Amino acid sequence: MGSHHIVFGGLFIMASISSLSMFYLARFFMQNEEICMHSNRLNHANEVLDAMAMAARLKQVLDIMDRLGAKLETTLQPMEKNQDKFHRDNISRSEFNNFLEKDVIRPLYSAYIALKQIQEYSRIEVNKSATLGGDPVINTFVSEELKKYMTPNDNQVGTNKLYETEKIYRGTIGFGCVSMKKELDEYMDYEIGSNCKDDWNLGQTLIVRGCDPLPRRRCLARASKLYLKPHSINESLWLMPDGRNVRWSNYQCKNFECLASKDVEHDFPPCTGCFDMEKEKLRWINHTVQHIDFVIKDVLALKAGEIRIGLDFSVGTGTFAARMREQDVTIVSTAMNLGAPFNEMIALRGLIPLYVTLNERLPFFDNTMDLIHTNGVLDGWTDLKSLDFVMFDLDRVLRPGGLLWIDRFFCKRKDLDDYLFLFLQFGYRKHMWAVAPKSKDEVYLSGLLEKSNRG
Ligand SMILES: *[C@@H]1O[C@H](CO)[C@@H](O)[C@H](O)[C@H]1NC(C)=O
Ligand SMILES: *[C@@H]1O[C@H](CO)[C@@H](O)[C@H](O)[C@H]1NC(C)=O
Ligand SMILES: *[C@@H]1O[C@H](CO)[C@@H](O)[C@H](O)[C@H]1NC(C)=O
Ligand SMILES: *[C@@H]1O[C@H](CO)[C@@H](O)[C@H](O)[C@H]1NC(C)=O
Repeated sequence: MGSHHIVFGGLFIMASISSLSMFYLARFFMQNEEICMHSNRLNHANEVLDAMAMAARLKQVLDIMDRLGAKLETTLQPMEKNQDKFHRDNISRSEFNNFLEKDVIRPLYSAYIALKQIQEYSRIEVNKSATLGGDPVINTFVSEELKKYMTPNDNQVGTNKLYETEKIYRGTIGFGCVSMKKELDEYMDYEIGSNCKDDWNLGQTLIVRGCDPLPRRRCLARASKLYLKPHSINESLWLMPDGRNVRWSNYQCKNFECLASKDVEHDFPPCTGCFDMEKEKLRWINHTVQHIDFVIKDVLALKAGEIRIGLDFSVGTGTFAARMREQDVTIVSTAMNLGAPFNEMIALRGLIPLYVTLNERLPFFDNTMDLIHTNGVLDGWTDLKSLDFVMFDLDRVLRPGGLLWIDRFFCKRKDLDDYLFLFLQFGYRKHMWAVAPKSKDEVYLSGLLEKSNRG
């Protein structure tokens, strides 16, 4: 009865997806031809590589649908032949739901994700790759993927206030240094053994623009004139550090109290109020009305005793790590000193700051972290290609059974679908999930996902 309808419905969806995939295939080759007509031989080679990647993805989708079709057919045939028996057997609702969930909906969903990737691929990659190859440094490499990695992408939404750039420069293989010879020369201009200039921010500019890692130097890094011992470990987590332990010369504010005050919020929009310890103390311990903030105790309870080490890939002052420390979990917090001394703040709280950019391959080995929490860095200004490289890197360092906590990600409502597919492409299990409006045309998204073992 009803169950037949659902199965037929499944077949109908499959047929629709099937025609969709033909549509994308046609669309891709059409574009491909157009581009090929106008481009040189090198670009032609690029397109062939793109076509191969595309063909592989399509095959993946078609295989899934093929298996699904066969499975539905074998399920359907006995039902048709033996309707009476089917009714007598009266498979329970939950059995049938299980069947639908495991054998129909999930495969359909992964087919959907794969198709979505193809759609993105033709929208972003094919278009962008047509503009690749102008830079002689980039052209010294052969690998298409490497060239894509090295070509900076425009932000999804204008200039990024955090990095103050219009593009994302994916660094970590040093090529950015070529385009910033002057700055790098200046950075390496010092007297051996003397005090360095007060130039950490020049180094940071180099890193943010892809000249990374920086060379070592043989000058002495400057500290604050008067360095006091930090607060004792029994109180350092939640006590405002002493501002005299920081060099303030490159900041508007000259102490932590100034950073915690409301007047300077515009300096670092990604974590408004994050230097205000009274506010910070309230984070991750209570549900909010929108249920967009998960509670740390609930998250840890999902894997009691299993979450021991992790990474906070965020913009902030280490509060997430502080909260986790209270639960005996060791968290390393990424931090750049953009507009405020985030690294010093985190360290003075007795936590570990990790000085890396968004663009950097994370300095952890594959499948090592129990937990990755991310808040603030990846928000919807990041272009999809850059975020895709980041997501694959997060997936790389997260261990099987580890948790990925996407915390208050936000983007334009119209971009949500595109970001969703980036987050869900690995087929992680959803433990918690919430979407809530942020403003008229922006939405928040939080998700707690578990990586499965791919072997
Ligand atoms: C199927 O089972 C339900 C209860 O589990 C029962 O109400 C219903 O009558 C059964 N139908 C048939 C055809 O046996
Ligand atoms: C490719 O990019 C150009 C601008 O760079 C845009 O005008 C064009 O519509 C894009 N093509 C596709 C297929 O997205
Ligand atoms: C923390 O420890 C120090 C030294 O052991 C002690 O003087 C101080 O009173 C302690 N503070 C709190 C809040 O317990
Ligand atoms: C937050 O939760 C704690 C218990 O975990 C409760 O005592 C406190 O009143 C809550 N605070 C708010 C602001 O809801």
